[in-house]
Amino acid sequence: MLMTEKLELTIRLELYSWNDLEIQIQNLVLNAKASAEKAYAPYSDFLVGAALLLDTGEIICGNNQENLSYPAGICAERVALSYAQANFPKSRPSKMAIVGKKREKEEYSNIAPCGICRQTISEYEQKFHHPIELYLLTQQGKIIKVNSMDDLLPFKFSDFR
Ligand code: THU
Repeated sequence: MLMTEKLELTIRLELYSWNDLEIQIQNLVLNAKASAEKAYAPYSDFLVGAALLLDTGEIICGNNQENLSYPAGICAERVALSYAQANFPKSRPSKMAIVGKKREKEEYSNIAPCGICRQTISEYEQKFHHPIELYLLTQQGKIIKVNSMDDLLPFKFSDFR
C-alpha cells in the first residue's frame, strides 16, 4: 500500500490557574461543583457536575443521573445541554464548566467529556454555528480550557456533510 499523503491534526488546549480565571469562569466552575453534589450516582459514586452558560447570561446546571440498568444513565453534560435546549432553544450555549469527583474524596478528579457528550456538544456547536468553550477541572486544581469540540473530537462525522 502506497501512502500518498499524511494528515496530521493538532489540538491546542490551554491550562489556567484558578486566580488567572475570569470571575465569570470561576463562577461557572463553582456552579458545576455545586451541581456535582446533587448528582444521582448510587452505582458509580462518581459525581459529575456541568454548568452551562448561555449567551443570555443564564446558567443551566446538570449532573449525572444513573440507572440500575447502567446504560440508561445520562451524563452531567447532556443533562445540562438537554435541559437548556428543551427550555431555551434559541439561546446559544456559550461556555461549559465540567467537574467530577469520587463521592468520598475531597479532591476533584481529572475529567473530560465522554465520546457521546463530545458528539452532543458538537451538535449544538453546529446548530448555532459557534464553538462552545469547555473548562475542565483537573486533579491539581488547574483548569483546562478547550476552545472548541474540534479539539476534542477532531475529524468528526459532521466533517463529511
Ligand atoms: N459521566 C458524566 O457525567 N460525564 C462524562 O462525560 C463521563 C461520565 C458519568 C457517567 C456515570 O454516571 C459516572 O460519570 C461514572 O462513569
